[in-house]
Amino acid sequence: MSNVLILLFLAALVFQASSDSNKIGICHGRVGNNLPSPNAASLLLKSNGISKVRLFLPDPTVLPAFNSTGIELMIGVPNENLTYLASSDANLAVNWLRSNIFTFVSPDQIRYLVVGNEVLYEDPFYSRYKEY
Ligand SMILES: *[C@@H]1O[C@H](CO)[C@@H](O)[C@H](O)[C@H]1NC(C)=O
Ligand SMILES: *[C@@H]1O[C@H](CO)[C@@H](O)[C@H](O)[C@H]1NC(C)=O
Repeated sequence: MSNVLILLFLAALVFQASSDSNKIGICHGRVGNNLPSPNAASLLLKSNGISKVRLFLPDPTVLPAFNSTGIELMIGVPNENLTYLASSDANLAVNWLRSNIFTFVSPDQIRYLVVGNEVLYEDPFYSRYKEY
């Protein structure tokens, strides 16, 4: 009986994985030289069927290139802004979203915000909170 349940569970997982196989995501960073322009990069991703992109920062020179592409975005909140966002009231946080993200790309394209990137280990700004 339990073997049947395990098989059904695995079959459900495989089915779910195969139905998502066309939803490949890409991390799009801008650190490097000889990079394509943001417009060229978003066209390249779209023409290759990429439907999800992670941007490490809400870069105002990059976000407009993704507006109206249909690509879902996961956008990183800069570590330097975390203290401000955590200590401010909700209206200030909404204003931050408006002026840093929604000014450049339609809100319905934003799938996730990533809050912090290796905050405690990499960023000297927060290293005083390290615990070890
Ligand atoms: C957010 O961080 C940027 C640096 O990444 C800084 O220039 C800006 O002043 C910060 N804004 C707020 C509201 O914390
Ligand atoms: C994004 O594109 C849509 C459709 O072209 C447009 O209506 C909207 O104003 C754009 N949003 C921003 C923030 O530029």
